[in-house]
Amino acid sequence: MSYKPSVLVVDDESGILDTLRILLRNEGFEVATAQGGKAGLEQIRSGAHDIILSDVRMPQVSGLDILTAAREQDPMTPVILMTAQASLQSAISAVNSGAFYYIQKPFSNDELVAILRRACEYRAVKVENTQLKQEIRRRDKTTIARPIGKSKRFLDVLKLAEHVSPTDSTVLIQGESGTGKEVIARYIHNLSSRSDGPFLSINCGALPENLLESELFGHVKGSFTGAVRDKQGLFAAARGGSFFLDEVGEMPASLQVKLLRVLQEREAIPVGATEAIPVDVRIIAATNRELEEEIRRGNFRSDLFYRLNVIALNLPPLRERRDDLLLLIEALLQNLASETGTEPKALAAEALDAVMVYEWPGNVRELENALEHAVVLTRGSLIEAASLPERITKRRKEPLVAERSYRNPTLEVIERAYIMWVLQAEGGNKTRAAEVLGIDPSTLYRKLSRYEEQVEVKV
Ligand SMILES: Nc1ncnc2c1ncn2[C@@H]1O[C@H](COP(=O)(O)OP(=O)(O)OP(=O)(O)O)[C@@H](O)[C@H]1O
Ligand SMILES: [Mg+2]
Repeated sequence: MSYKPSVLVVDDESGILDTLRILLRNEGFEVATAQGGKAGLEQIRSGAHDIILSDVRMPQVSGLDILTAAREQDPMTPVILMTAQASLQSAISAVNSGAFYYIQKPFSNDELVAILRRACEYRAVKVENTQLKQEIRRRDKTTIARPIGKSKRFLDVLKLAEHVSPTDSTVLIQGESGTGKEVIARYIHNLSSRSDGPFLSINCGALPENLLESELFGHVKGSFTGAVRDKQGLFAAARGGSFFLDEVGEMPASLQVKLLRVLQEREAIPVGATEAIPVDVRIIAATNRELEEEIRRGNFRSDLFYRLNVIALNLPPLRERRDDLLLLIEALLQNLASETGTEPKALAAEALDAVMVYEWPGNVRELENALEHAVVLTRGSLIEAASLPERITKRRKEPLVAERSYRNPTLEVIERAYIMWVLQAEGGNKTRAAEVLGIDPSTLYRKLSRYEEQVEVKV
């Protein structure tokens, strides 16, 4: 076995670098050197070294900066600091900030080599430990809560998610609001080899363009008013983990270009910086917009779409997987009960009927909210229909669906169906429904009272 541990030596004096290079090579180490802290930072960011040995006092970039950068890059890399003027205080603070060892110059060769060997062992144990943890997690998938559902369409999505989770492939999750896109994204992360790393996310539609840019990519001090210090971006903070780009369809055009670069080159340039920094994250994006449609309208770059859509997961709306309703209701009621430390409540027959036929335009989130609403209003153990939000119990069937059984519906029937459907989606609010329909509220009232005079449409 001839694995040579690699050491990066950082010092501003070339004499010391030369001496250490010769010494450490003779002792069987792979040696890289960097003269000065700046060169040190570049090497740390560009390559993997098993151990870093750095001088503390250097102009511009100090040994402590090296320590911080090395820990950010890979927390398993031991950093040994060397100093000519060791004080107990600085030794303590270096070790507190994560230095493996603090050694005072001049030191004997043996002393240094012994410390480096110990650092190698330490690293090996840490690496092994992390691998073991991952292995355990892989074997024990049951400890990771599986998103709930048993319908064929949902299980197909889950299976694909499980299949791709160990890879680093970019995933695009499309689905209506509330269908569980974030739930699936977290599930993929938890099953992945990156699960020890962070899962960070941002909602691309929630921030103004320049703020979104500096949140994602970071910025350097002075790059804009208010940038009083360097700021690490979220991509950098998620290093080693996964990054969830929520509502990616809302991303402004200029940032779409930057994101494309992240996906192609795996690097990003912080705002105001000249050099790119590496991006080591697995990207999971989500959208409730039809991205293909947004591309046609010129709102979304097609090249970015193809980069994001390496693995496409399409979450079906709840109304298209009604098989999942019972399981979801049971699980959600169970969750609500454990939050309050009470026995789970159940839906009475009539309430269940209403829930089973309702269209759920807001999907699982709407179901969750409706059940919470009902639980709060229910004293006993059975939830009556009256405790559910009115829109759910008011009309049992979505008219458009109900009337599809008519072979040749008249325009009036279709209009009526559409109006009732919008009204239902707006929770019975006539003013809002009129707005959505683009008609005057008085027109809506007139139409509604006419419908009331007519006989109910048969299903
Ligand atoms: N399969 C599922 N099992 C358990 N809970 C779920 C499932 N799907 C969704 N939920 C719950 O429904 C709610 C909405 O899910 P989530 O936030 O993932 O939806 P989303 O698709 O990201 O919605 P939006 O587009 O509005 O952001 C959450 O509270 C989540 O816990
Ligand atoms: Mg979401």
